[in-house]
Amino acid sequence: MQMGITSQEIFNSISQEIVNLPFPTSPAPLYQPMSYLLGHTGKRVRPVLAVLAYQACEGKEQDKMISASLALEMVHNFTLMHDDIMDQAPVRRGQPTVHIKWDVNTAILSGDALFALAYPQLITPFPEVAAQMVRFFTDVVVGVCEGQMEDMVMAQEPHVSIPEYIEMIRKKTAVLIGGALGLGAIAAQAKQPFVDALYQIGELMGTGFQLQDDLLDIYGDQTKFGKQPGGDIIENKKTYLLLRALEKSGRYQKETLLNWLQYQEDNSEKVKQIKSIYDELNIKSETSELIDNYYSRAQEKLNSLSDELSITELQVYMNHVFLREK
Ligand code: IPE
Ligand code: IPE
Ligand code: MG
Ligand code: MG
Ligand code: MG
Repeated sequence: MQMGITSQEIFNSISQEIVNLPFPTSPAPLYQPMSYLLGHTGKRVRPVLAVLAYQACEGKEQDKMISASLALEMVHNFTLMHDDIMDQAPVRRGQPTVHIKWDVNTAILSGDALFALAYPQLITPFPEVAAQMVRFFTDVVVGVCEGQMEDMVMAQEPHVSIPEYIEMIRKKTAVLIGGALGLGAIAAQAKQPFVDALYQIGELMGTGFQLQDDLLDIYGDQTKFGKQPGGDIIENKKTYLLLRALEKSGRYQKETLLNWLQYQEDNSEKVKQIKSIYDELNIKSETSELIDNYYSRAQEKLNSLSDELSITELQVYMNHVFLREK
C-alpha cells in the first residue's frame, strides 16, 4: 500500500498554493478581501480532509487534488465573509472582519465572487468526474445556506429543541466537512459506498466540530481562538450550551437567562452572567462529552473501513482536530 503525504505536508502545500491563487487585481475591493481572509491562516480543515480522503481511496495525483481542495477553503471563506456580516462579528482569525475593514457591500460581493471562483478551481484538475463533483458541491453549499438560515431564524425563536439545534449545525457546518471527504473520494473515483461512508464520517465529525466551536466561543483561550469572546451569547445564538442550560436551570437561573435573551447587544455583563450560569450547571463538561461522542462515532465508522481504505492518516488527523484549541 503506497504511503501518502502527511496532513502537515498537505497543510503546508495548501497554505502555499492559496496565497498564490491568481486573483485579478481590479476592481481591488472585490479581490483584496479574498486574499486578506484566505491569507490569515485558518486551520484549513476542509481542504486537508479532502486530500486525506483522496489518498485514503488510493488517489495518486496528489498535486491535482491539492489544487482542487482549495475550492473547499474558498467556499468556506465565502461562507465566513457572509457569516460575519450576519453575526455582526468584528474579529476573525485575530483580524478585523471584511465588512468592518471594508464595508458590508464589499463583503457581500467579494464573498459571492469567491464562491463562483471555487467551481473552476474544483473541477479543472478532474474533468473526468466534473459533472458529479459540481452536483455534489452544489448540494453541499445549498445545505450550508439552509443551515445558516435556520441559525438566523432560531436566534429569534424562544423555544428551540436540542434535536432541532443538532439538525441546524449538521447543515451549516457538518455538511461541508462531510462534503470535503466525499469530494476527495469522488476525485479518486472511489465506489459510491465509500463516497457515502466518508461523507457520513464527515457529518459526524462536523457536528462535533461545531459543538466545539460553540464551546470555544465562551470557554476557549481567547488569545488563540481569534474571534470575539462570547459572540454567540451577545447574538442570542441557540447553542448547545444555552439550550442545555435552559433545560437544566432552576427558576431563578432560567429567569436570568430569559431576561438576557431579550437583549441583543455587545454587553460584557450579559456574557459574564450567562457564563456563570453555565458554570453552575456544569455545561462545559456536558458539552465536552457530547463532542467526544460525535468524534468517537466518526472514528468508529472510519475504523470500520480499515480493510478497504488507507485510513491511518485520516485517523490521526481527526484526532488532531478533536484536540484543537482554535
Ligand atoms: C469556523 O470554521 C466556522 C465553523 C464552521 C465553526 P473553522 O473553525 O474551520 O475556522 P478557520 O477556517 O480555521 O478559521
Ligand atoms: C458558522 O457558524 C458556520 C458557517 C457556515 C460559516 P458560526 O457563526 O458559529 O462560525 P464562527 O464562530 O463565526 O466561525
Ligand atoms: Mg459566526
Ligand atoms: Mg454564524
Ligand atoms: Mg461560532
